[in-house]
Amino acid sequence: MSGTNVANLPRVDARDKVLGATRFAADMAPDRIAHAMTVPSSLPKGRLISIDTAAARALPGVLAVLTHSDLAGVKSAGYLAGGGYGFQSHQPMLSDRIVHRGEAIALVVAETLPIAIHAASLVVATYEAEPFTAMMDSPGADVQAFPSSVSIGDAGAALAGAAYTVDAEYFHPAQHQNPMELISTTAEWRNSDLFIYEGTQNSGSLKFGVARALGMDPSQVHVSSPYLGGGFGQKNSLQSQTVLVARAALAVGRPVKLVVPRAQLFHTASFRPASRHRIRLGADADGRIVAAHYSADQQNGRQDAFNAPFGEIAARLYAIANFTAEARGIRTDTQSPGFMRAPFEHPAAFAFESAVDELAYAAGRDPLAFRLANDAASDHVTGRPFSSRHLAECLRIGAERFGWATRQPEPGSMRAPDGTQIGFGVACGAYKASISPAIARLRVGANGTTRLSLSGHEMGQGIRTAITAALLSRLDIDPNGLTVTIGDPDAAPQHVTAGSWGTASAVPVVDLAVDRFLAAFDELRGERTVGGNLHQALQRLRRPYIEVEARHRAPGQPEAIFDRLRQGLPGAGGPDYPDFVSFSYIAHFVEVHVEAVTRRIRVPRVVSVVDCGTVMNRWTARSQVLGGVVWGIGAALREAAEIDPRYGGALNNDLAEYLVPVNADIGDIQVEFIDQPDTRLNRSGVKGLGEVAMVGVAAAIANAVFHATGIRVRDLPIRIEHLL
Ligand code: MOS
Repeated sequence: MSGTNVANLPRVDARDKVLGATRFAADMAPDRIAHAMTVPSSLPKGRLISIDTAAARALPGVLAVLTHSDLAGVKSAGYLAGGGYGFQSHQPMLSDRIVHRGEAIALVVAETLPIAIHAASLVVATYEAEPFTAMMDSPGADVQAFPSSVSIGDAGAALAGAAYTVDAEYFHPAQHQNPMELISTTAEWRNSDLFIYEGTQNSGSLKFGVARALGMDPSQVHVSSPYLGGGFGQKNSLQSQTVLVARAALAVGRPVKLVVPRAQLFHTASFRPASRHRIRLGADADGRIVAAHYSADQQNGRQDAFNAPFGEIAARLYAIANFTAEARGIRTDTQSPGFMRAPFEHPAAFAFESAVDELAYAAGRDPLAFRLANDAASDHVTGRPFSSRHLAECLRIGAERFGWATRQPEPGSMRAPDGTQIGFGVACGAYKASISPAIARLRVGANGTTRLSLSGHEMGQGIRTAITAALLSRLDIDPNGLTVTIGDPDAAPQHVTAGSWGTASAVPVVDLAVDRFLAAFDELRGERTVGGNLHQALQRLRRPYIEVEARHRAPGQPEAIFDRLRQGLPGAGGPDYPDFVSFSYIAHFVEVHVEAVTRRIRVPRVVSVVDCGTVMNRWTARSQVLGGVVWGIGAALREAAEIDPRYGGALNNDLAEYLVPVNADIGDIQVEFIDQPDTRLNRSGVKGLGEVAMVGVAAAIANAVFHATGIRVRDLPIRIEHLL
């Protein structure tokens, strides 16, 4: 009954995507659909005094203009990290309060999108302004204390006795995800049931959050999110427009669609907040890192407590016996910031791996040899073993493929004939290997069909392909009769698909479901021998179908964790488990060219070697790493929100001025996998890949820029003016 080798299975949804046949949320167009547009607040903080919607209402084709006075009874669904369902606890349009620039003050619904856009421009508001704080360094920014994330040994004493030290501060700007698929909501009422089509990484939080906000029974709210055109953390929970669109659909008695314009998303969706990292490191005379003190400030909004555990990953990169990590939130008047791909790990690795590089140079060591000499055999933070760790192999293999041995040690010593300075940089990354509870239902039919419903969201990372591979590798079924349903809480309870736990949660539960199916099949078959595939065997055994359910959770988690899953609440475990801690690892090697006159920085090649446990699918895994490296190049050299301190908000709120890399910026990227199963973590050996891919890229680039020029840039993005 065994299936086939599927590690090279082509991406299962590739053909439909290339043909344009994949239906994304905003493609949904129920009959009689009406179109909505939000009116954003032009004030960053204060109170609405009046809002005049008469001109908008008078426009032919306008069906309704909703303001806060139309939303009586609606309440906030709460904050995702605080027992609720939203990316922030503040729900716009529930009162006359304005807490951040760009939040919706009205929602126009019209027959067509152009009418809705025009009508939105006719809404006139007057405000009572209050002082506001735009940036971390602006007046009025106040401090929010967080508990220390790491405290082992005595970092102060060890620093005082160190032979070599570094004390430096690094800055990472605020960034915005900008997935290709905009955030959108289409809401449709059928009698008292509400159907929501929205691209989300967390259809469970939408279902339960909308129910809470509108005072409905969750069984009446149906959410579908089979595909996303990119999520990256921005779509990880209930958005601020969803309940507004649902109420608008009720008000006009028709389905309503809102696609939030990109310019508004900079002010209404979550983002990566700015952060400042002071890092003190000490090494002994033998080049062993003996101490680290990591203190960080991270921008926050006023409403919620978005934590800043940068030390969690920094303390896992090397064997450092004395490590203190502390962080504070700095409150500003923005929407709540949140998770953006490798939310803490990417900025932490930029800062920490830059500081480690500085320490290697201070100690007169090769940055690669220095890292290898400080590799960790077990976890100093918890005293537990790692479930698996192949970081040193990543470094050795990467160095070999990259040709690190041809590096000349002296910064500024490698030049092309035209004067271009050449630099080699290396940096490591780690990312927690988490597992979310997951439930799967599998049904194989005599009629040639197989139905598999489980937790998960497809945001392009390839989770459908991994799920399909896991199933086909073990069951002899007709792949053409297979339907995989994900992103639908009515089909199976849904977790937030984030934190790089998607594959490590989906594949083990599929494996368990297959075990259950095979046990049931063997019981049915008894002593009989039946030929053919499973569908044919079921026919011969005169059984219309076998259906099984399986549940999987992280090591050490209680059975009750499935209750959280069933309520749409986050429940992932890790990286600390009872018997071990678990991380994925990566090593990046980067070559940069700095042009002699223009000081333009190019990245002609990158080699990245990944330890993510079992690689479920080579194509999708490689794509994940390519995307992570490209994003790291963007973070190092392009991306930053340019905040206007006079009015709040981002000035560069579009893809013309919010710079991301284009194809011409990307050279050769070589990706290699260690591909060693981590069977301590889960039976499938999968650790996770999506976020570790970008961790350390920006540091490797900054380190290469130092090696090329002798200039250490500690502020991202690295710009031409840093190198003049
Ligand atoms: Mo990711 S930032 O955990 O969606």
